[in-house]
Amino acid sequence: MPFTIAIDGPAASGKGTISKAVATHFGYAHLDTGLLYRAVGAKVLAGADAIEAAQALRAEDLESGDLRTADVAQAASKVAVIPEVRSALVDFQVAFARRDGGAVLDGRDIGTVICPEAEAKLFVTASAEVRATRRFKELSEKGSEQSYDDVLSDVIARDKRDSERATAPLKPADDAVLVDTSDLSIAAAIEAAIATIRDRM
Ligand code: CDP
Repeated sequence: MPFTIAIDGPAASGKGTISKAVATHFGYAHLDTGLLYRAVGAKVLAGADAIEAAQALRAEDLESGDLRTADVAQAASKVAVIPEVRSALVDFQVAFARRDGGAVLDGRDIGTVICPEAEAKLFVTASAEVRATRRFKELSEKGSEQSYDDVLSDVIARDKRDSERATAPLKPADDAVLVDTSDLSIAAAIEAAIATIRDRM
């Protein structure tokens, strides 16, 4: 039986960490849909055409080691406004969402566009400053020399582009439960997410 958990939210809100923990807890498969857009963005930075790259995307492309950089994140949000890029990635995500045995997908439009029938929907947010602090720490640990102020302006620019685009903008589904992680530890955020999902089972 399919059971889909849709976890959407803005950049660095904690949705990736929560999604992985939720998938492990329930024994479900997990797809970080941001990786699809990051993989297309990385190909565009390497000179490819965005639509062709999205249409030719292969599972191996998601394993490329450098998809988590700040440059790739910006490139991802630029290709993500192109309707043909988004439509090329829909079938894979829909099939993943409705697979037998349960699935957790995290992204921007899972509860609104990819799987409006998802049995559980969460919208994970935090203040821009908290999100930038988390992303700054992550990037610094990987050796990035980007300043906190640059990380904060990148996060704000990406949220603006993701929220204002015409196709599949970032917004909570009407029936999503909001989880604000600004003042929550990772453990508390995961616990809140699991409790919300359990209510839907
Ligand atoms: O990890 P983080 O929240 O920083 O970003 P991500 O989830 O890896 O997504 C990177 C970019 O891909 C986002 O800024 C969006 O522009 C785009 N994206 C999207 O449009 N739709 C999705 N379902 C997932 C990501």
